[in-house]
Amino acid sequence: MKQLELLYEGKSKLIYATDCSERVVVRFKDDATAFYNIKRAKIENKGKMNCAISSNILAFLEANGINTHFVEQIDETSQLCRVVEHLPFEVIVRNVIAGSMAKRLGIDEGVVPENTIFDLCLKDEELGDPLINDHHAVALGLATYEELVKIYEISARVNTLLTELYAGVGIRLVDFKVEFGRSSDGELVLADELTPDTCRIWDIETGECMDKDRFRRDLGRVRETYQEVASRLCNALNK
Ligand code: TMP
Ligand code: ASP
Repeated sequence: MKQLELLYEGKSKLIYATDCSERVVVRFKDDATAFYNIKRAKIENKGKMNCAISSNILAFLEANGINTHFVEQIDETSQLCRVVEHLPFEVIVRNVIAGSMAKRLGIDEGVVPENTIFDLCLKDEELGDPLINDHHAVALGLATYEELVKIYEISARVNTLLTELYAGVGIRLVDFKVEFGRSSDGELVLADELTPDTCRIWDIETGECMDKDRFRRDLGRVRETYQEVASRLCNALNK
């Protein structure tokens, strides 16, 4: 597979065309941004660490019956992925109240709800990625009600698998964000990345934050913590 021109540059990834119309190369950058680019930094080796973490997690999910856009890791910072039509909303899954939900509803971070919470956010940075609901998603033509049912089912299954995976390496999965795409045959597939940039994970023993909140909240040791997550996960997944 030959890598061709740059198709898109996001805040943390670059997408390249390839000589196969069904495949793209996704390259992870060292850049970190928060609060819509107000805060920016380069974190040495973040691209490598996130590529390893996301590749291992997506392969693990595939092995457990979740269809994803991931094909294979091709070098230290790049993955070969299927071309999919990206659905322009994010699904946030919350096991523990934290972040924007804690702030918006005035609940202490760390409170455990009785049920798993699923949020939808429109991917529109100018509007601040607003929270939407199923009816908005259907009215905006982003997905059908039937697709949304499947999206919540897949997200719940991913939550079960990731909660167990992380618990096995001494980490509590607080919340995470996933995105979906439609393959050429209309099938829903998990897309984008699953890394400490897109979840909240806390060490089970110490309660220490092991995700991008270290960067957002100036907690220090961002690179060392991502490295710790990468080694725990990659050891557990044997890679
Ligand atoms: P929030 O507390 O800011 O709503 O974020 C919930 C989770 O979703 C947290 O783990 C970070 C992740 N997330 C992203 O990965 N990208 C985003 O654009 C947003 C809003 C959240
Ligand atoms: N909203 C995301 C965050 O704070 C991404 C960003 O703002 O760049 O992590």
